[in-house]
Amino acid sequence: MKLEDLKHPKLVAWVKEIALMCEPKDIYVCDGTKEEYDCSMKALLDVGLAKELTKRPNSFSFRSDPSDVARVEDRTYISYPDKDDAGPTNHWMEPNELKEIMKKLYKGCMKNRTMYVIPFSMGPVGSDIAKIGVEVTDSPYVVCNMHTMTRVGTKVVDVLGTDGEFIPCVHSVGAPLADGEKDTKWPCAPIEKKYISHFPNENLIWSYGSGYGGNALLGKKCLALRIASALARREGWMAEHMLILRLTNPEGKKYHIAAAFPSACGKTNLAMLEPTIPGWKCECVGDDIAWMKVGDDGRLYAINPEAGFFGVAPGTSYESNPMAMESIKENTIFTNCVETDDGDVWWEGMGPAPKHGIDWKGKDWTPETVDDKGEKVKGAHPNARFTAPAKQCPVICPDWEDPKGVPIDIFIFGGRRASTVPLVHEASGWDHGVFMGSIAASETTAANIGSVGNLRRDPFAMLPFCGYNMGDYFKHWLDMGDKIGDKAPRIFYVNWFRKTDDGKWLWPGFGENARVLKWMCDRVDGKVEAIETPIGKMPKDGDLDISGLKMDDADMKELMKVDVNAWKEEVKSIEEHYGNFSRLPERLKKQLEELKKRLG
Ligand code: OXD
Ligand code: MN
Repeated sequence: MKLEDLKHPKLVAWVKEIALMCEPKDIYVCDGTKEEYDCSMKALLDVGLAKELTKRPNSFSFRSDPSDVARVEDRTYISYPDKDDAGPTNHWMEPNELKEIMKKLYKGCMKNRTMYVIPFSMGPVGSDIAKIGVEVTDSPYVVCNMHTMTRVGTKVVDVLGTDGEFIPCVHSVGAPLADGEKDTKWPCAPIEKKYISHFPNENLIWSYGSGYGGNALLGKKCLALRIASALARREGWMAEHMLILRLTNPEGKKYHIAAAFPSACGKTNLAMLEPTIPGWKCECVGDDIAWMKVGDDGRLYAINPEAGFFGVAPGTSYESNPMAMESIKENTIFTNCVETDDGDVWWEGMGPAPKHGIDWKGKDWTPETVDDKGEKVKGAHPNARFTAPAKQCPVICPDWEDPKGVPIDIFIFGGRRASTVPLVHEASGWDHGVFMGSIAASETTAANIGSVGNLRRDPFAMLPFCGYNMGDYFKHWLDMGDKIGDKAPRIFYVNWFRKTDDGKWLWPGFGENARVLKWMCDRVDGKVEAIETPIGKMPKDGDLDISGLKMDDADMKELMKVDVNAWKEEVKSIEEHYGNFSRLPERLKKQLEELKKRLG
């Protein structure tokens, strides 16, 4: 499509303004067709940035620059005129100052590149809950990924009509080409020139310098979480970093669960879980983001605004997540995996390693390869990803695109904790549940740049994604609870990752997690009582179905232990965490005081 084909004067004017600044060689408006995908991919194959895989139909492998492998939280800005509105957890710069810096970078940044205009819908096209964005980008890799991750093209342009609202998203890899020059490696700017900027008051996104994942596919973290969370607060709904699943019990009763875990804590695995308990069925609605609104019946309804999975590859296998493995058999983009000699991809934790391959840095690699220090070199980057259409998931829920969404019965929070936090506990009510969400913490992984293995408080798994002051965000959760009242979902906290002192996992996880979900459903139905502990309600002996599991009693006890002394230490860390928030709601302070009292 050409720019002249667009009948939306405001959109056309904006595209022209960006083109004037970025100076691309031409402008192309995406129509979302297969031909367009093929053509963009061909451009990437021709310069050698993409490799076609012979083992997986219509699938491609990419290697990014080693400086461009994950979200760059230090370079991510939430820009309001008043710093306090961004709050203590976000990087902030005054909007005019930030725009001036970025305008200088954007000046001429698309030289000799095509500027693609991508009209996309987050959520089913035309649904009440969906939002339309338009991303301009100089990256055909982004075009292909956006085709999979969102709904792109003419149908979106039709819904926009002549004056429909859209969220403008500007993206450039920040690597202009000289005349006649072609890309020889993954284009991006050095780290200190990368900016992922959000202007929530203007519903505006400006991203510069990175071509990777959430930094570049602006529908996902930037629009569907950071901008949407701010919008949701203004409009009275919720945009959350949550998977959505449907669980059906042997009697056919359906339960819908939304769960928030920090990046790389197994959200995709849980979303596609295959229950090990007989008669239970799980279907996936989404693996990363939930948009939720109160329905006519007063319940909270969730949609998945995305159309694909951008999943962490390492650790994904037929053992850990067979449904993800089935989802990526074809039509998939792989980034930063090992390319095997027989035209496939491989990563750590997938299964037997190939004898030889090309690692994510483009070097010859064997399972024996060691670095200068003699340490084994990983073939795939720990944040290597696959981009696959959600509809390819064998357990995708038949209602996953229902514009109305699915009614949520249960919220789950959690994170990776080697100690202290038991397998599962339940909130005594909404405020307690919001407290649990607000203190969620996890040992860090490779999905974000930073050191791995430290404990980081990640409230509601939204730390990198909340588009406004986190104290106000807590308040918004409390307000939503007041609005939903007794129709509110029940709230639970889980930890699949507890270990023994000598480092052994206590819980088998994966499909076995269905046992914990079953207990939650039993609680919702009032089928089982719970024990009161200082931190919340927990399963009574025998209520958590562990039939057929080889768990010894001592391990089970350890898994469920509430160590009062460890929790007293935890309280100190929570107080420190809460000390960061000048806008902390009184109702949460009260929750902390009550926890302290219960711990004695
Ligand atoms: C993601 C993340 O990519 O949370 O989903 O980092
Ligand atoms: Mn995520």
